[in-house]
Amino acid sequence: MTAVPKSRILGTGHYTPARVVSNFDLEKVVDTSDAWIAERTGIRRRHYAADDEVTSDMAAAAGRQALEAAGLNVADLDMIIVGTISGDTPMPACAVHVQQKLGADGIPAFDISAACAGFVYGITIADQFIATGAATCVLIIGVELLSRLMNWQDRTTCVLFGDGAGAVVLGPAKGDGRGILSTRIFTDGSLAGALQIPGGGSNEPLTAEGLERKRNKVHMSGSEVFKVAIKNLTSASTLALKAAGLTSKELDWVVAHQANLRIITQVSDRLGFPLEKFILNIEEYGNTSSASIPIALDEGVRDGRIQPGQSVLLCALGAGISWGAAIVRM
Ligand code: COA
Repeated sequence: MTAVPKSRILGTGHYTPARVVSNFDLEKVVDTSDAWIAERTGIRRRHYAADDEVTSDMAAAAGRQALEAAGLNVADLDMIIVGTISGDTPMPACAVHVQQKLGADGIPAFDISAACAGFVYGITIADQFIATGAATCVLIIGVELLSRLMNWQDRTTCVLFGDGAGAVVLGPAKGDGRGILSTRIFTDGSLAGALQIPGGGSNEPLTAEGLERKRNKVHMSGSEVFKVAIKNLTSASTLALKAAGLTSKELDWVVAHQANLRIITQVSDRLGFPLEKFILNIEEYGNTSSASIPIALDEGVRDGRIQPGQSVLLCALGAGISWGAAIVRM
């Protein structure tokens, strides 16, 4: 039996910065090639924030667009959740700056630190608040400004990531079957070291030597994450489908985290769901971490591929390792 949704998506939006950096541009600063990046990952370009742009600027822009699409005002919101690991400041939360930029004074605003899974974690939490009646209109934003967290001496990692923001507004379901049918989230802390920013916290306060060794930048064991990603994205998606009371045959679209086209292709094979029905934008934006799902979702909605009433699987995995999946009837 199909699950009965408690919350539904009222509007989507996204923002990507104007500065486009191609693989050929990176060839000039990193020992790499367009051919290697495109073949190994599917990425051809990524967008980087302007020097005077900060994370909350991008998040607020995406949030405004999602509110506009929902036909709502800032005053209608009663919560802001931001999935990010690259906020404006280590403290306070990025959501605080977003709240201030939107003029949403007084409502709770907080960050979720689940890296690339941050958006799926965010809608899971918002869905619960709406299901219990504790909130009626929640803005969930996935945003990252990762170009400032790259170690340009680590060619395996620095070519992968980009900047951007995506957002959805969630409100109560109307009883017509449309909405969040299921969510499933997971973490395996034994793999914390596979993808991390090792310096800058209580474990390793930053020193001049640490800065020199780029301990405040993203460090990743790519091949370790690669294998886990295929396995866990498939299992979480299968569990979310089961909880929603659907099979993959009944899905219309998949919006998977855009980390690597080879990962997405293998998940498509394992789910038995055609790659043509995945909303892909990795070629244009690279890996925008928590922003990748809401950006792709909004693109699919705006260009008319994703239609009202269709069923969409969202799935993501990132540092933690944290991962999750959700089924949405749009
Ligand atoms: N340009 C050219 N060559 C590069 C390169 C680059 N940017 N980066 C690595 N290489 C080289 C390596 O030095 C290595 O050379 P060698 O065989 O002579 O030693 C070779 O390419 C293969 O490197 P490897 O790290 O094994 O590549 P890979 O096929 O595993 O691809 C990733 C690397 C990072 C693209 C891939 O592992 C990945 O996508 N991992 C998962 C990322 C992810 O999902 N993250 C989670 C969410 S954020």
